[in-house]
Amino acid sequence: MWKPPQKIQFQADPGPSPTEAEAAGSLLFSPIRHGCFALETRTWIPAMVPWRATNEGEVTRDVLDWYEAMAKGRPGGLVLEATGIRDVPSGPLLRIGHDRFIPGLKELSSRVREASNGETKLFIQLIDFLAIKRRPDKEKFIRRFLAVTDDLRSRIGGSEWPDDKVRDHLLEMPDEDLDAVLDERTRESLRMGYRERVTDMDLPHIADLPTVLPDLFALAAQRAKAADIDGVELHYAHAYTMASFLSAKNTREDGYGGSRENRVRLPLEVFRAVRDAVGEDYPVGCRFLADECIDGGGTVEDAAYFGTEFARAGMDFLSTSRGGKFDDAKQPGVGQAAYPYTGRSGYECMPQYISDAFGPFGRNIEPTAAVRDAVRAAGFETPVIVTGGIHGFRQAEDILQAGKADVIGSARQALADPVWFRKVRLGRGNEVRVCEYTNYCEGLDQKHKMVTCKLWDRIDLEPDTPRTPDGKRRTIAPAWEE
Ligand SMILES: Cc1cc2nc3c(=O)[nH]c(=O)nc-3n(C[C@H](O)[C@H](O)[C@H](O)COP(=O)(O)O)c2cc1C
Repeated sequence: MWKPPQKIQFQADPGPSPTEAEAAGSLLFSPIRHGCFALETRTWIPAMVPWRATNEGEVTRDVLDWYEAMAKGRPGGLVLEATGIRDVPSGPLLRIGHDRFIPGLKELSSRVREASNGETKLFIQLIDFLAIKRRPDKEKFIRRFLAVTDDLRSRIGGSEWPDDKVRDHLLEMPDEDLDAVLDERTRESLRMGYRERVTDMDLPHIADLPTVLPDLFALAAQRAKAADIDGVELHYAHAYTMASFLSAKNTREDGYGGSRENRVRLPLEVFRAVRDAVGEDYPVGCRFLADECIDGGGTVEDAAYFGTEFARAGMDFLSTSRGGKFDDAKQPGVGQAAYPYTGRSGYECMPQYISDAFGPFGRNIEPTAAVRDAVRAAGFETPVIVTGGIHGFRQAEDILQAGKADVIGSARQALADPVWFRKVRLGRGNEVRVCEYTNYCEGLDQKHKMVTCKLWDRIDLEPDTPRTPDGKRRTIAPAWEE
């Protein structure tokens, strides 16, 4: 795990909580409306994958319980986890790549509506991602997967050698020498696991992405609408396909890479296809990076440009995140997949209590404010949602009062206490279970395990409490009575 250079320990402090009357008079708990995007309060739970779907991507009882627990806190907006738009296996994460997923999602939207007393708007985050393989065993990789090219032969001085002799020779080489003779991508495949890029134009399915993605996103959005989900959030953030198109590292030469104008082209075409599919009165927005936080990556200036173009195109909301890229991920163990939240950019996405001097709370506020300023300067009122280390009423209210964002997202705090917004709204902020930002949840995500929170997954269980398959832990936070 990447560690910031200075290791200072920070403790989350939500500060004083308001009385019920103060909360009622706050901006945080006031409604917001922009066209068809209308929330009862300016509170938001962004997407978090809980690893609770079936391996076929279907909604399970655990999924229903998980989102119901959050809906009971009546956030203005609740975003369902990154949900795959293709009908391909992706582990126990939700999918929406076929009509057969609609009934399960419909049950989910109805559970959320009921649990929130109709106050929460449910969104679904639509994701596309490229292939990534686990880090291979060296011997297996060299014997089975390595392509023996003439170039490689000549680099090891064995131009006439048969393949097997080349492989034997490579296996005998010390790691540094081996690294020196392998080309960059082969070296990466060996050390990190193979990973596709949007710039792999020699692969027809990658070259074709601009042709296929608009339809795939549009169909997925139609299914979301058919499942009575209130809106869609296009996942244009972190390490995934659409963010890779926006990335400053996208050097495609087919008109979809290089300049900012070209990099934003596919995201805009996807949005246009989605809009055409669901109509003008169905909320569609996106989540994108206020800063890529990698060397040579996009900066807040890029984000300000993209945000403005998204607003100009007619998106109904903009939600920001930061970092979370594969580019600087740490080397995984053999048999593990690289995880885009292990390097500096990962830290910027989900900073933890051990931090540099800037601390883990609110690193995304100023970059988001810069994006919002640019959007407003261009004459658009599109609501901007900020997320990152926000866990207290005062901090949230100050951000809104200062005009730095329009809606407040909280992810890990909502995992620690799914009803924390509601507790604060009722003047019972002293009952909030405050996140410690140790990233216990992220550790589980990294291992592709059911996500829980260390603050509640080992609390003594009632005999009939749902448990994880290992029988030890609670699968959702303890219930809270209003
Ligand atoms: C377990 C876990 C899963 C996450 N899954 C997603 C996801 O599916 N999509 C997404 O955009 N962000 C995801 N995130 C990032 C959060 O939405 C959020 O941006 C990040 O945790 C920083 O906000 P916070 O400080 O309020 O936690 C995830 C975070 C966690 C902890």
